[in-house]
Amino acid sequence: MLEVAGVTFSYGKIRALSGVNLAVREAEIVAIIGSNGAGKTTLMRCIAGQLRPQVGSINLRGVPLPAKPHEVVRRRVAMVPEGRLIFPNLTVEENLDIGGFTRSGSDLVKGKDRAFRLFPVLGERRRQMGGTLSGGEQQMLAIARGLMSEPRLLLLDEPSLGLAPLIVRDIFRTLQEINEAGVTVLLVEQNARKALAIAGRAYVLETGRIVRTGTGAELLKDPAILESYLGVRSGPVSVDGPQRRGFA
Ligand SMILES: Nc1ncnc2c1ncn2[C@@H]1O[C@H](COP(=O)(O)OP(=O)(O)OP(=O)(O)O)[C@@H](O)[C@H]1O
Ligand SMILES: [Mg+2]
Repeated sequence: MLEVAGVTFSYGKIRALSGVNLAVREAEIVAIIGSNGAGKTTLMRCIAGQLRPQVGSINLRGVPLPAKPHEVVRRRVAMVPEGRLIFPNLTVEENLDIGGFTRSGSDLVKGKDRAFRLFPVLGERRRQMGGTLSGGEQQMLAIARGLMSEPRLLLLDEPSLGLAPLIVRDIFRTLQEINEAGVTVLLVEQNARKALAIAGRAYVLETGRIVRTGTGAELLKDPAILESYLGVRSGPVSVDGPQRRGFA
């Protein structure tokens, strides 16, 4: 469905992506994991048409995706950006209307009904200002806004960032539901454990290069991945079991 081939992107002299190859098939959940500064957001912004790679191609069903965000949305690819970026001074409903700019009339109403079914709390708060929502509710709004354009492919950049574990669990469950309803998902995460648990396949991005790919289950068992991204030390395992660093 999506094919990223040889994509290189630099911000001036700073090389953020070097010859990235990646493919997403229809109906998959694919995760990209990597540390801070690996180039995850840059890659997502290239796919979403916000940045134009200097080298390489990005095709959707064999046809190039233009470096024009509105046109990418019309090609039924929607992005849920890092940091949510909802409009704080617009209501929940107005935020959704913006996400649904490609639709009108009864389609828009249907889209909002679906959003409120997926995230009932948003329905209860439809007239509340976006900026007054909790972090978790803002993430739900960002996802719901992305879905308003009825994407076939949903791109998510760090949906779990800064959220409590219970909310993260809910959001990941909803992502699976969205996927089961027929939306292909490409997910960027620092929370590797969560991402690999729901992803059919995953890629590891390190300083702008894909260094590893496999099924979510394979990568969850890989000692190098365990050590670098899951905070589990390799080597002799203590009687207390593997040690965890920092994040879950
Ligand atoms: N607008 C910009 N101008 C210059 N350099 C940038 C810009 N945005 C990102 N970079 C650089 O590009 C590299 C990749 O950044 P990017 O934001 O894509 O990483 P990331 O994997 O999303 O990181 P994080 O996990 O912190 O979100 C970093 O070295 C970063 O400093
Ligand atoms: Mg990022």
